[in-house]
Amino acid sequence: MSERTLVLVKPDGVKRGLVGDVLARVERKGLTIVAMELRTLDADTAKAHYAEHAEKPFFGELVDFITSGPLVAMVLEGHRAIEAFRTLAGATDPVKATPGTIRGDHALQIGENVVHGSDSPESAAREIKIFFPDRF
Ligand code: CMP
Repeated sequence: MSERTLVLVKPDGVKRGLVGDVLARVERKGLTIVAMELRTLDADTAKAHYAEHAEKPFFGELVDFITSGPLVAMVLEGHRAIEAFRTLAGATDPVKATPGTIRGDHALQIGENVVHGSDSPESAAREIKIFFPDRF
């Protein structure tokens, strides 16, 4: 079952020079990059992307962080791409992420966890539309 997912290398990942490492893992896994862009989000786009977290206590921090510098947004395509990328990324909390995963290898703090990947087909469709309107 081929599907698409929206992946971000967040500003911490870009600043730390981890874009190449993330792309290498994605390509090695066999997922296909079908769109990719370096951009800095404005607050409105960030709030739209993270709308499901609007009521969380860390929402302000999340928006400040994701708009703090350039990120790399990409659409990946492949067999069960959503779950495949989330497995590559590891647990949201990097302390719990298994070594060998992106977060397990590169992060410690939950707010600065290097990558984002859509968590469901509905989220993927919504997030892809925010980052790449009219492309798919
Ligand atoms: P992400 O997959 O981008 O989706 C929502 C993000 O919120 C998540 O990764 C974390 O980076 C962030 N997040 C989750 N919990 C917290 C928290 N307690 N404090 C700060 N950020 C958080």
